[in-house]
Amino acid sequence: MITILSLALISLNLVNHVYSKKKRLIVFANRGDNVTLPCRLYRTSSPSFGGTGRRVKWTKLSDDDTETDVLVSMGFYKKSYGNYQNRVYLQEADDNDASLVITNVNIDDYGRYRCVVIHGMDDNTVDVELQLQGVVFPYFPRLGRYNFNFHDGERACLEQDAEIASFEQLYEAWRDGLDWCNAGWLSDGTVQYPINTPREPCGGKTGAGVRNYGPRDKTTSLYDVFCFTPGFRGRFYYLIQPERLNFDEAVQACEDDGAEIAKVAHMYAAWKLQGYDRCDAGWLADGSVRYPISQPRRNCSPTEKAVRFVGFPNKKQKLYGVYCYKEQQ
Ligand SMILES: *[C@@H]1O[C@H](CO)[C@@H](O)[C@H](O)[C@H]1NC(C)=O
Repeated sequence: MITILSLALISLNLVNHVYSKKKRLIVFANRGDNVTLPCRLYRTSSPSFGGTGRRVKWTKLSDDDTETDVLVSMGFYKKSYGNYQNRVYLQEADDNDASLVITNVNIDDYGRYRCVVIHGMDDNTVDVELQLQGVVFPYFPRLGRYNFNFHDGERACLEQDAEIASFEQLYEAWRDGLDWCNAGWLSDGTVQYPINTPREPCGGKTGAGVRNYGPRDKTTSLYDVFCFTPGFRGRFYYLIQPERLNFDEAVQACEDDGAEIAKVAHMYAAWKLQGYDRCDAGWLADGSVRYPISQPRRNCSPTEKAVRFVGFPNKKQKLYGVYCYKEQQ
């Protein structure tokens, strides 16, 4: 399963279906995609009325299982609701197909959906979870680890063009191999960290898992944060330069190239979702210096694929290159 999941995470343009441990269907999509959430009626009676005697209802489930309407279809009557209006339709590849197509998927669309399809004596209910392809990354500021209360953490993710990760996102990242020994805030106000290689200083040797400190005081407790970014549509690149740069020169160099200095989320997304690999330490917008390695080799993260963190150097140091980001026009 973990293999299928990681495959799902690296194949960019395909929509992938996998079943989670709970046998809930998960569909992965990129921001901006058209995505199909599968749902079918299995008939025991013969299909005598075509599609017209059929009722289909798609709803979105919130965390407390309350449902909001997405689309209702009864015979020729079809209605979509809220910000799904004019963006969703039934695929109807055949009489039994009740799959929902969502066009131009945005960040608010991800979550759990329920399909109820009824025709005569036959009915079916299917739960589908829509997840954005993306990457979870741990983040701490120049001040060092354990400096964010919940609100600082939320803000820091936004500043890196990401958002604070949910537990589900951290859990999927853990299944995909994320191992990080500093505890970080999640969107539900809990503090957790993912361990794949159990070791004494990281919650003991008793098995891999997402270690959970539970809910913490959002104002007074200080931790790191886990951010989630759903890919991007622009271009991330290392700027070839004759000389090493200090931070201000790095910002300027990207501007001179018609771009902006890249943010931490851009580097993680390029590394994880596009296999970006570059063994040159470069400045990023938050004043950190990092480099992305997806082909481990000597002198460049020899043992694992990783975004290597060099540090938050003195901004006057003329020692590094720069990574730039250009929005797609
Ligand atoms: C999504 O579907 C819409 C309408 O069906 C179409 O105009 C658009 O090109 C599609 N977008 C992608 C990314 O396939």
